[in-house]
Amino acid sequence: MRRYRLQGPAGGDRLQLTETPRPEPGPRDVLVRIGAVSLNYRDLMVFENRYAGGGVRDGLVPCSDGAGTVVAVGDQVDRLAVGDRVAGLFLPRWQGGPYDERYGQDALGGGRDGVLADYVLFDQEALVAVPPHLSLIEAACLPCAALTAWNALFGGDPLVPGQDVLLLGTGGVSLFALLFARMTGAHTILLTTRADKRARALDLGADAVIVRSEVPDWPSAVRALTGGQGADHVVEVVGGANVGASVQACRNGGQVHLIGAQASGDIDPTALRRRNVVLRGLYVGSRSQFQAMNRALTRSGARPVVDTVFPFEAAAEAYRHLRSGVHLGKVVISLDPATV
Ligand SMILES: NC(=O)c1ccc[n+]([C@@H]2O[C@H](COP(=O)([O-])OP(=O)(O)OC[C@H]3O[C@@H](n4cnc5c(N)ncnc54)[C@H](OP(=O)(O)O)[C@@H]3O)[C@@H](O)[C@H]2O)c1
Repeated sequence: MRRYRLQGPAGGDRLQLTETPRPEPGPRDVLVRIGAVSLNYRDLMVFENRYAGGGVRDGLVPCSDGAGTVVAVGDQVDRLAVGDRVAGLFLPRWQGGPYDERYGQDALGGGRDGVLADYVLFDQEALVAVPPHLSLIEAACLPCAALTAWNALFGGDPLVPGQDVLLLGTGGVSLFALLFARMTGAHTILLTTRADKRARALDLGADAVIVRSEVPDWPSAVRALTGGQGADHVVEVVGGANVGASVQACRNGGQVHLIGAQASGDIDPTALRRRNVVLRGLYVGSRSQFQAMNRALTRSGARPVVDTVFPFEAAAEAYRHLRSGVHLGKVVISLDPATV
């Protein structure tokens, strides 16, 4: 079977396609034929060895997010059967309850080998059934971006209808947050760095779109769009010094969900205290949250926004496309030649 590995120094052509024997499932293992893999910003960080303090293992199989079909199960597997359509958990050991730092040690495509391969072995507890209405390409978008957006909006003090939600950008996490906010009946404001994405963001249902370069004082614009109050929830995917502006755009007592690591710089915590804003860090989500999210997707019939699908052989091109920032929604690599 084919499997990509990251080999050699960062910055080079380190995405190497290798051949390896197909693995055999142990008693509790499930063998999945991967149909599609989606890329996250984090995969760029791993690729460029900017992840986990530059401690990415040479030879790592990259990517956390894959969906596929069960083709073999061990004799103690009782949750899944051959033919089931599944996606893997980003954090395979986080089944439910509060996050524990141990769960982060073996994140797929980071601490342990990921899913950019024809076949991958999973523990049965590290898989969830995917919504039946989604293709494997769509289902591959769920494990990191969708679950993070779900955890942001519903994992803390949850979003309720009528509240204001601020989304930063048009990437994977932000567009899932837009989808979930709209399902809930929230008012949505989307901030983008690119004027050419405005029309599409409005088409996708954002109630208002602010283009960052046109409105340098965008926190004031958010407050103006929310009756002078600010957003109840800010889905903060930029990070660094941008968090200070997000706090300014947040309502007194509202929540800034700290997700992103795209920017550098620090914030002054004074505004948090003065305005009672809750800064809530989060790391993807648990299996039970994934199942709750899949129920909501199934009931609503909602679908992810897929930007581009690349064939498996062109994985390096998919990485370059994500790096360019022109994408809107998810960049996917398909292992099924019929779908690209
Ligand atoms: N904590 C967690 O568990 C977790 C989980 C998933 C992702 N993340 C982090 O969240 C971030 C987004 O991940 P992703 O996979 O959704 O990335 P992505 O699909 O590559 O999207 C990134 C988007 O961010 C927007 N952006 C960049 N700089 C911006 C700025 N200064 N102001 C406003 N928007 C800006 C851009 O949208 P426009 O082109 O529209 O401006 C860009 O397309 C990354 O830092 C990632 O590491 C964290």
